[in-house]
Amino acid sequence: MFPAENYTSATLHRRRGMDVVNPTPSGKKIAHPAARAPRIFADTAVLSEIKPLFEAGIINGVTTNPTLLKRAGAKSWAEAKELMAEICRTLAPHPVSLELTALTFHEMVKQAEELRALGDNSVIKVPTGGYAKVDAKLDPFTGLKVLRELWKRDIRTNATLIFNTTQAYWCAQAGATYVSPFLGRIADYMYKNDQPERTPGNSLHFIEDHKNAKGDQNVANTEYVACGGQRKDAGIRLIREIAQTFANYDIQTEILAASFRNFSQVTEALQAGADILTVPSDLLMKVADHPLSDAGMVAFVEDSKAFEK
Ligand code: E4P
Repeated sequence: MFPAENYTSATLHRRRGMDVVNPTPSGKKIAHPAARAPRIFADTAVLSEIKPLFEAGIINGVTTNPTLLKRAGAKSWAEAKELMAEICRTLAPHPVSLELTALTFHEMVKQAEELRALGDNSVIKVPTGGYAKVDAKLDPFTGLKVLRELWKRDIRTNATLIFNTTQAYWCAQAGATYVSPFLGRIADYMYKNDQPERTPGNSLHFIEDHKNAKGDQNVANTEYVACGGQRKDAGIRLIREIAQTFANYDIQTEILAASFRNFSQVTEALQAGADILTVPSDLLMKVADHPLSDAGMVAFVEDSKAFEK
């Protein structure tokens, strides 16, 4: 958990530059108390999950990716596009992130135009890095170049697969509307590979597979040592790092915290300064629940029977 002093005047100034999420219509006596609250998106491509959450006012955006579209049943690019278009129609005018699958600059820009045509609320999700890992011949700066080109074309973008502040900063420099740090995947990785005996270093920059590492090559999880030995903290620490960096320079790229596994991460991401949280639908379905709420409600309903006479 992070102390309140992380919220500096720079943080507040940056957030005041952003859109009001819950506007108060003129004529209302009570102003909306959470006008600038962080927005919550659903991290799913399943329409039957999206619709009830949207109708309940739980979400005001959706993020998809190829894995989520496949899980939702899309078996071809045509089916994936049909599903993405339907999600855009359902959520309009709220943003829906649609991920590029092409891997070269010109193909990606062409595909971005194709996806933009699916809805005015579409946001083009651009993988930040990893190109050279897929194919050594690919340009490692492809993602940054595409982000810059889409900004020039007035297309909103979501830079995805962010695992350190350096990546987030350069995506913002390239013109990204949103950056998506995957805090859950970092926490998962650290949980599996913690090696606190290693020399302190920044594990958010250098991550090697624990099992295959040789000598000092493996610097994973030493970050835990450097920040006090907290084992599941690195993903949230990343959100805080990006939030503070963006506040320092009034960078208006929004921090879209992604890859949530549990409610503790949701709470901590809110405290760390995320602008948007994209949360899996199974978690969102439970936002109003607690076992003590269940027990309390059963007791209230039982006692209220006394007034039925
Ligand atoms: C959202 O934009 C990401 O694609 C998503 O949160 C990744 O989540 P995962 O780590 O559960 O796959």
